[in-house]
Amino acid sequence: MAKSIQVVVTGASGFVAKNLRKYLSENNIDLISISRNDFKTYKNEQKIISKDYDEKLIINKIKNSDVLIHLIGIGKQSIDIDYEMINVELTKRIVNLVKKTKIKKIVYNSGLGVSSKTSVGYFISKYKAEKIIVNSGLNYTIFRPSYIVGKDDLFTKFLKKQIKIKTIEIPGSGSYSIQPISINDVVKIIFQSFNEIKFKNKIYDLVGPDYLTFEQYVKLFCKGSKIKIKKINLETAYYDAINNKKSNFGIDDLNILVGDFKGNYNQLEKITQIKFESVIELLKSGRLL
Ligand SMILES: NC(=O)c1ccc[n+]([C@@H]2O[C@H](COP(=O)([O-])OP(=O)(O)OC[C@H]3O[C@@H](n4cnc5c(N)ncnc54)[C@H](OP(=O)(O)O)[C@@H]3O)[C@@H](O)[C@H]2O)c1
Repeated sequence: MAKSIQVVVTGASGFVAKNLRKYLSENNIDLISISRNDFKTYKNEQKIISKDYDEKLIINKIKNSDVLIHLIGIGKQSIDIDYEMINVELTKRIVNLVKKTKIKKIVYNSGLGVSSKTSVGYFISKYKAEKIIVNSGLNYTIFRPSYIVGKDDLFTKFLKKQIKIKTIEIPGSGSYSIQPISINDVVKIIFQSFNEIKFKNKIYDLVGPDYLTFEQYVKLFCKGSKIKIKKINLETAYYDAINNKKSNFGIDDLNILVGDFKGNYNQLEKITQIKFESVIELLKSGRLL
């Protein structure tokens, strides 16, 4: 019988990682998942708990693996944790770990909007992380996701909370657009990327078929419930993001929204040949509520 493939996942308790681990486990992939805190394992999964991804603890445990999926990332900074430390330096350490353990392939989630021309701090750090991976000599696949939608993603949870108080706040006009992709499609595509040649040493946008305004998205989300949509002046939203650590939208969340990024869906559809879920249909069905 052919040996099943063994996959390492970093940032195992995050939204994408949790959904991916479940999907891979259901597809009988052997998993080794690493997180800072304890978590529940799926079938065929071993766990490693490490606060700092210290190689001494990790190397021996992951050395016979085939692929590493690097899903650690932050989108908000503070004086304790910043983009350089996590998105750049930790990526560098993970890449070294992959090289030392002779794992053949690395898969990484960057962000839609990353380019050499960007001036946004978050995108700059993701751009640097991409470069570290591209220049590593490893077989890589880098995805640039737009907003990934699931029952348990941060923004869905936020909208559900606002629905309870009957008012949803949106920053500015809400007429900037997003191109959401369902988490169910994301996990399938990441799985495909493990050994298909079309994914080797490539960077692809990870976007869905629908491109809609933020306001349309929010309206569809709360379809059926009597909710007031309150538009917050953009200056006020930025003021809050700058001065309040716990603001609903961080500075780079706002930058990303206002940036109006659109990805290459046709390319992704052609390469993956999957039938994508329409996020609009998903919202209309009420399955996220
Ligand atoms: N979700 C989206 O819509 C979206 C869009 C574009 C790009 N992405 C990218 O996709 C990746 C996964 O996203 P996600 O939505 O799953 O994010 P998430 O839920 O915030 O998960 C990220 C994980 O990173 C790890 N992490 C965070 N801070 C860390 C630190 N200081 N030290 C070590 N590990 C740390 C944590 O893993 P543990 O708690 O397990 O330690 C955390 O759960 C990220 O790189 C993100 O930038 C996501």
